[in-house]
Amino acid sequence: MRWARGGRRRTRCFASVAFAAALATTACTAPGDGGEAPATGAPAPSASPATPPAATAPLPGPRIVPGPPRLTADRTGALVPRVAAMRTDGFAAAARWATPPGTTALGDALTARVETALRAYAGERGAAWSPGVDIVPGGARDACWGGSSTGTTTHRLAIDCAVVVASQTLIGERLVVTRRDPVAGTSVTREVWYADGAGGGLFDGTALYRAGGEHRVLALVAEALRAAGRIAPGDEPYAALDAAGARAALADSAVTAAGVVVTLPVTSASGERLTSVHVPARLLDPFLSDTGRSAIAAAASGAPYAPPSTPAGADPVDCTLVACVSITFDDGPSSLTSGLLDVLDRERAPATFFVQGGAVESRPEVAVRIVGSGHEIGNHTWKHPNLTKLPDEEVRSEVDRTQAAIAAATGEAATSFRPPYGASDQRVRDLLGLPVVVWDVDTLDWQDPGPAVVADRAVGWSSRGSIVLMHDTHEQTVEAVPAVIDGLRGRGFALATVEEQLGGVLPDAGTIVSHGPR
Ligand code: NI
Repeated sequence: MRWARGGRRRTRCFASVAFAAALATTACTAPGDGGEAPATGAPAPSASPATPPAATAPLPGPRIVPGPPRLTADRTGALVPRVAAMRTDGFAAAARWATPPGTTALGDALTARVETALRAYAGERGAAWSPGVDIVPGGARDACWGGSSTGTTTHRLAIDCAVVVASQTLIGERLVVTRRDPVAGTSVTREVWYADGAGGGLFDGTALYRAGGEHRVLALVAEALRAAGRIAPGDEPYAALDAAGARAALADSAVTAAGVVVTLPVTSASGERLTSVHVPARLLDPFLSDTGRSAIAAAASGAPYAPPSTPAGADPVDCTLVACVSITFDDGPSSLTSGLLDVLDRERAPATFFVQGGAVESRPEVAVRIVGSGHEIGNHTWKHPNLTKLPDEEVRSEVDRTQAAIAAATGEAATSFRPPYGASDQRVRDLLGLPVVVWDVDTLDWQDPGPAVVADRAVGWSSRGSIVLMHDTHEQTVEAVPAVIDGLRGRGFALATVEEQLGGVLPDAGTIVSHGPR
């Protein structure tokens, strides 16, 4: 991965010490100036604090603003929202973050950062990380936009995110890590991560400035603090910092269309409080790196975020970190499946389809689309017989003909099997040559109870690791799917294919799977 810092680029592995050293950590309990509310999730003001001046107004100088920018859902819709949470009698931990679609350096880095913090926090309390649902209000519905609650226990870890910039190929995301402990008190770590493009260019807030310019930027920050009476006239609170200290003080730097918002703790007679200062680009310019200039230019363009183009089912998910559920559709492809795929693609929701060979032969293009969108395809026999009532030869023929039809259409055979009616016995399983995927949540959607009932069952009956049985041959089921996806995400589930739930490794042939990790 390329790592840009101060305009220089060098190769680094992820989890770099250099990045960790640039984090802004504050051991404080005092609230900020309204922009710092990670534990309660009260949203900061939605608009960027940087408002371009009217043509006739005097040019504004550096000034205190309520907090760093926090883009609203309409600007962050292209990002994939993530939630991971765990609650025990002794502690609660919850994280919200958002990643670009598909596999990206930024997504990998943010997820690794969150994972490390969550697993370490649970480990320090003698627990293995085990994700739960129904913990974070709103779940994984909106990227970095919604509430975050970890309950009332006094031992808490909360990681909240805010997207500070999403324009062209540039994404900037701020993570606020808050640890509350009745003995040690509260500590807050603030990080701003940026990436330009899907392939790399990962950098942090300090990379916005050219090396050696940090004290000049901090002098502009001090100017705003003096003007607002936060520090005494003539006070230069950052002058004594060494180069590394000055750089670290600027780690929480959020790009806006008109400059940068620097957030840092400010000590005054009334104690320490986090304060955000907007410094206009025209004053910053001599001290910006090339990276910083292009980041502000991207934000100023007002252009929407152009996410990497990846299939809907290609967003990586680790079902040991987040609570997963798999929605599965049997008996297709049917005339309804294309419409269902439209919904799944729009929602970036991966699914698993257990297809019948005869149906694939009739609609090979739909099978191609299932695989091309990143969904999983499994074998569901040719004509849907109860295999336990068939002789060996016919069992083999049902499976093999279907494998051949899937392979002819998509180029690859299925790697899992679902028996019609869920009916198998040892003899049948020995004949299959494939693992047997059944389910633990049966929506009984084939009885056509109405879309609302199908959705209520799929959402309400799921627990971590569930495999939900539905059929893409029923109109009411396809109608229910938007509510199924929204409801599951609202509880905090991530959608995953069955294979993803199992960490990409299906069990041996003949083994029965009815759910993922739980
Ligand atoms: Ni079936």
